Amino acid sequence: PSAVAVLTAAGSGARLGLGYPKALAELAACTLVGHAASRLSASGEITQIVVTAPAEHHGAVSEALSATPGVTVPWRVVEGGPSRQASVAAGLAELARTMDAGAPYDVVLVHDAARPLASAALVSRVVAAVREGAGAVVPGLPVTDTIKSVAVSADGPERVTGTVDRSVLRAVQTPQGFAWDLLLRAHAAGADRAQDESTAATDDSSLVEALGEAVHVVPGEAAALKITTTYDLAVAGLLLAEAVA
Ligand code: C5P
Repeated sequence: PSAVAVLTAAGSGARLGLGYPKALAELAACTLVGHAASRLSASGEITQIVVTAPAEHHGAVSEALSATPGVTVPWRVVEGGPSRQASVAAGLAELARTMDAGAPYDVVLVHDAARPLASAALVSRVVAAVREGAGAVVPGLPVTDTIKSVAVSADGPERVTGTVDRSVLRAVQTPQGFAWDLLLRAHAAGADRAQDESTAATDDSSLVEALGEAVHVVPGEAAALKITTTYDLAVAGLLLAEAVA
């Protein structure tokens, strides 16, 4: 049995204010996509990686991966879609197209280049949980802030409508892990949502939930933070400098 990965890198990164995709942003002389692919490789769990890139940056993403010595697992780049969900679907289609019928995949991970410092140990934990029988696995962390729901108004301040019980909340991360057949089924069932950002799933486990199938949580890690803003990029740089990620 082999575990394979889809690594999403097809976002625009508009909130980072770069003129190029977030996955090509640099952190300690390596791109975000290079960091993420290196750690997937270092886990020793993954046999191949399909990376989703924006069509016009296909070459740049390939060059970034070629230039990263830690990316030791075979990889290839495919064109992403109009939403993260569509990009993952494109990655899965490529993996399905090239699967050797005699050696089918058992586990597929979906990971975001926007979480460059998710550790090899986290990758292994997720793969192990899927192999132990959990069909779908997400890393999750307890929520430390108090969370309010609000009534959003176009004019005037937002008004609080309630306080959510945070003891039952988890902030979930990637890599998320799935039994191969289950994730294919979940994406097929949710395919009508994928073409538009406003309807698309923001993670893969929610497509599994929509099937009514169980999703299990394993402990996430602070280092797997998602890079959205320049603040996040600075924090990730500090974590690397302190050698805690
Ligand atoms: O934009 P955001 O940070 O939410 O994107 C999450 C992940 O999904 C990123 O790794 C991004 O590259 C990826 N993505 C994608 N295709 C899209 C949009 C986002 O692969 N159309």
